[in-house]
Amino acid sequence: MDINEVNFTDTAQVGQLSQLDQWLEEAVHDTFPSGPIVPGSAAKGRLYDQARHLMGVIVDYKELMMMYACAMKEIQTKFDVLNMEFKSRYQRNPISSISTRLKKTTSIAEKLARKGAAFSPESIERNLHDVAGIRVVCSYIDDIYILADALLRQDDITLIKRKDYIENPKPNGYRSLHLIVSVPVFFSDQKKSMEVEVQIRTIAMDFWASLEHQLRYKQSYPDKQGIAAELQRCADTINETDLTMQRLRDEIEAIEDAPTEEDVLLEKLSRIDIAIN
Ligand code: GTP
Ligand code: MG
Repeated sequence: MDINEVNFTDTAQVGQLSQLDQWLEEAVHDTFPSGPIVPGSAAKGRLYDQARHLMGVIVDYKELMMMYACAMKEIQTKFDVLNMEFKSRYQRNPISSISTRLKKTTSIAEKLARKGAAFSPESIERNLHDVAGIRVVCSYIDDIYILADALLRQDDITLIKRKDYIENPKPNGYRSLHLIVSVPVFFSDQKKSMEVEVQIRTIAMDFWASLEHQLRYKQSYPDKQGIAAELQRCADTINETDLTMQRLRDEIEAIEDAPTEEDVLLEKLSRIDIAIN
């Protein structure tokens, strides 16, 4: 087996450890043709040990990434459930969209190096809190806090860190609610708590953050300060719009006659098919 044929992103192949081991022995014999491999002694044995160790790290890394992906799925399902419940109960969707992402290996390596930490599964779990990320985009500012509170009330969720960049926007104008949470994931042989970074923001905040993120890469632009000031102004305008939309919704909801119990029941019945689709 050739190393180039080994696709480490394919978990099925990573599972074929004995095949990899065979390839590893062949590679060591290629480099040192004479004599047997004696682990722990002489150059040939040490090369084998190091290669075997590296192989173990790669396999453990792949497994850790799979676990983060599962944790992300757990959190995504929790938000899907909340959205479905809102749709059925209040006839509205608080969530406009949900996206997830697993941090790329290059970004993981770069961030660990920046922190002076080693590249290992243990080090990733200890030093990084954003390997699994989920972004929830809402219609209104209030929805952000309603969803965050509903998530944090769940008894399997532990809040590790909360950063409210809506109450305290970043100097550049960035707004979003960030939560680092830990969620238990049940695997066939163990239960493991995994951290997930949750970003909750409005459609307007997301629009601003996406464009600001794109513009940040155009480093050659001569008037960077001017751009920064304009972006900050845009963030303020967007925030004003968000607040106005929230106020309008509150006003409209307040003047709507409180529905009778019968109205609620009829409305629910008429929505049943929509809600479960
Ligand atoms: P990172 O090392 O980037 O993860 O930052 P941090 O650990 O200090 O956390 P922070 O809460 O500041 O930011 C985490 C994530 O929020 C980033 O990876 C981005 O996705 C997003 N974010 C934070 N600040 C900005 C910003 O100014 N602009 C945009 N577009 N996104 C931001
Ligand atoms: Mg990050």
